[in-house]
Amino acid sequence: MGRRLSQAPVLRYACTDDSGRSYYITTPIFYVNAAPHIGHVYSAVTADCLHRYKILQGFSSRFATGTDEHGLKIQQAAGTAGKEPLTFCTEVSDRFRHVFKSCAVSYTDFIRTTEDSHWRAVEHFWSTLLNKGWIYKGTYEGWYSTPDESFLTPGQVTDSTDSMGRAIKISTESGHKVEWMKEENYLFRLSGFQDRLREWLQSNPKAIQPEKFYNIVLQWLENDLPDLSVSRQRSRLQWGIPVPGDPEQTVYVWLDALVNYLTVAGYPETHSHWWSVVHHVVGKDILKFHAIYWPAFLLAAELPLPRAIYVHSHWTVQGKKMSKSLGNVVDPVETSQKFTVDGFRYFLLRQGVPDTDCDYDDDKVVKLCNSELADSLGGLLNRCTAPSLNPEQVYSHFCSTSFPKEARGRAVPEDYRMIEAVSGLPALVKEHFENLQVYKALEAISACVRLTNGFIQRHAPWKLNCSDAEDKRWHDTILHVAMECLRIYGILLQPVTPGLADKILCRIGVQPGERSWDHALDFLSKYDRRDCPYEGRKLGPDTGVLFNRIERSKPKGNTPKPGKR
Ligand code: MSP
Repeated sequence: MGRRLSQAPVLRYACTDDSGRSYYITTPIFYVNAAPHIGHVYSAVTADCLHRYKILQGFSSRFATGTDEHGLKIQQAAGTAGKEPLTFCTEVSDRFRHVFKSCAVSYTDFIRTTEDSHWRAVEHFWSTLLNKGWIYKGTYEGWYSTPDESFLTPGQVTDSTDSMGRAIKISTESGHKVEWMKEENYLFRLSGFQDRLREWLQSNPKAIQPEKFYNIVLQWLENDLPDLSVSRQRSRLQWGIPVPGDPEQTVYVWLDALVNYLTVAGYPETHSHWWSVVHHVVGKDILKFHAIYWPAFLLAAELPLPRAIYVHSHWTVQGKKMSKSLGNVVDPVETSQKFTVDGFRYFLLRQGVPDTDCDYDDDKVVKLCNSELADSLGGLLNRCTAPSLNPEQVYSHFCSTSFPKEARGRAVPEDYRMIEAVSGLPALVKEHFENLQVYKALEAISACVRLTNGFIQRHAPWKLNCSDAEDKRWHDTILHVAMECLRIYGILLQPVTPGLADKILCRIGVQPGERSWDHALDFLSKYDRRDCPYEGRKLGPDTGVLFNRIERSKPKGNTPKPGKR
């Protein structure tokens, strides 16, 4: 269940209903036919970041993830592994839990579609659609891709050849082989929702983010929506939920899977609170299912639509899609061990741009972590807390004569610009988090860390003579300002690098109850002639390095390139 870490002032979050301070975020549920890789972890870490961010803001947040265990390809994968489907699913589902644990993904709910409560929810949802007249029995004839569990129109299919040179048809989007299917099953009247979906998007321009994907969905809605087959004959697919009242049919795996979000919320009995604040994180490959099918199902069931669908692009490796056959799948557990959990999370969220695909490369992780976490942020913490500069080991004192608000004292114009940048940072980070531009938030934090390092470098407190009272006051003021900056960076980084943020805040003596978003809004209070609760406090005892520089792996082959050392 959600946790409430701190209470924000009522006015700031004034709301009209009791759900105004609640938040519910989901990841897609993961197919258990393949081992978890960094792409999956990216979906999960993105959602985790938003969940942690909302908790910092004083929201009661619920974060659901889980595994998608039905369907033909799972049935086939279990068969290939020589295992009973449920045994096979349990094993892979446990691997996902393990991976998420190893990446500090702090979900509150983990759902499996093989659970009884989910079956009940799907049966109820199905019966609701049927009773309201949105499902009818008919004959579906068309292309189907089992790897994508997707029905395709002739326009979404291309000619190709298989490895033996035989002519086949493939899905233009995914490249997976498709087969012609003709069978009697149930169809959902998707065609009846085109206008309502368009209206929903037009009146909610932030419903799908980033904007690029919003526009793609609007474009899709320009074309007619054919009715959607929502069941398969049981003779073809046994590993799934039987259609209520018709044991000859199995519920289509995507309808089954999408309902997971409702199951977690308490559907069909107690969902209304959490359902009214649901937000989905999805990869671009499953946008159509979440932005067209799912809202149409919800409209048909007369349930509220998601508040937002956050869409991200994909990770490639050396420009190629990750796949077992190419042997380029990046294992998240190994990666998080190699670069630490915080290093790995920082890389994913700092380099992951939702609008475009990103390429994974170990060297990039090393470079980024070394420069931004070890050198820049670690260097700043070290400068504020090293016994050589801070022999009293306290949160240093601020002197308003040295750094006055109006006149200049010993501060220079760049210092005032830095204060202004750091004061505005929480608002900027908030805006970027809420638009799923986490990388921009991290870019902004990193730029401020550089400014603070520049500030210390400019005034070189190590050169001041601390036996002179005025110099000592200025020396402490420099450290105080730098520590105040660090406090803000520590608070704002909690959703992304929880371990590192905790290390920073512990070291500078900021207690767990002083780490909410609101605490970041109160920056450098002494500058405004208000008390600073941290001033004079003893520093925390952990004097260890914030982030150890990562040694570069040796390049393969040892012939140096001409002109390079
Ligand atoms: N089971 C469906 C989702 C059902 S949700 C009701 C599914 N599963 S998946 O395991 O294939 O993908 C889960 C998530 O991982 C999706 O958001 C997908 O976009 C994401 N990723 C899978 N490969 C990826 C990359 N290479 N890069 C980034 N994310 C990718 O789809």
